Amino acid sequence: MHEPYLKAMATLLRRSQPRHDLYTVFGHCMEAMALAMANSVDLRQREPREARYLDIVGQYRPDVIDLFPRVLAELVQALEVCPGDVLGALFHDLELHNKARGQFFTPYTLSRFMAQVTIGDCESVKAIIGGHGFVTAMEPACGAGAMVIALAEAMRDLGINYQRHLHVTAIDIDPRAIHMAYVQLSLLHIPAHLMVGNSLSGETSEHWYTPAHILGGWNARLAHRRRQEPAGETLVHAVEAPPAPAPMNHAVSPSREPRASPPAMPQQLSLF
Ligand SMILES: C[S@@+](CC[C@H](N)C(=O)[O-])C[C@H]1O[C@@H](n2cnc3c(N)ncnc32)[C@H](O)[C@@H]1O
Repeated sequence: MHEPYLKAMATLLRRSQPRHDLYTVFGHCMEAMALAMANSVDLRQREPREARYLDIVGQYRPDVIDLFPRVLAELVQALEVCPGDVLGALFHDLELHNKARGQFFTPYTLSRFMAQVTIGDCESVKAIIGGHGFVTAMEPACGAGAMVIALAEAMRDLGINYQRHLHVTAIDIDPRAIHMAYVQLSLLHIPAHLMVGNSLSGETSEHWYTPAHILGGWNARLAHRRRQEPAGETLVHAVEAPPAPAPMNHAVSPSREPRASPPAMPQQLSLF
């Protein structure tokens, strides 16, 4: 269903070649889209992000910069057809997941299956939503967001409005993955706090809040729930995530030695 849009996006991005490295252009395109979306709502981080946006734009001639909104337009149309990990698929279609860079995303059909297993018979999820008004999900290695999108779609199929009753915390060590996930979760209006960070050491370096998070007043909603109930008391299910390959970009250097007492962090997609 997404094929025509994927083809159009790949064709657009390939027009930047041979002048530019495709991996770099793809990364800058994702980052520019994420920055533009974040700057429409996250006023506290606006100034440095605007500077970064101008820095990216300044690196290309207008004909290349013109490709970025056109890629975004194709992505919006693809997600309007149906949810999915369109950017993860594009990353693969452009062959940016080659062995040297070694980053593979889960095929979306498999993500959907895992999301269904995570939700189970959905009674526990409905019970948590009945008690708190929403369920929270933690994705410690989110990639482009496939598992989160699949979870939202699975909730929608059960008649649960994920835009109101789901909040996601998602982490990835690769900033490019966070930019991809941020763009997709923002377009699907999923309330989410995404972090560039190392889920093993607990270090984080960047915080990205989706428009749904900010406009929905989720900081207050989450704080209210934390006051009511210690974290982790209502764990529903956890499905093991696929093994994580070494990413190319380390915004946060992974520690070589395991820390003596790492912070509590689920190593798989979990619902609370
Ligand atoms: C196999 S991909 C899976 C991504 C996504 N969950 C999916 O199903 O498509 C693994 C992801 O984990 C990230 N990763 C690897 N080590 C990590 C770490 N220590 N902390 C956070 N993310 C990590 C990689 O950057 C990569 O995006």
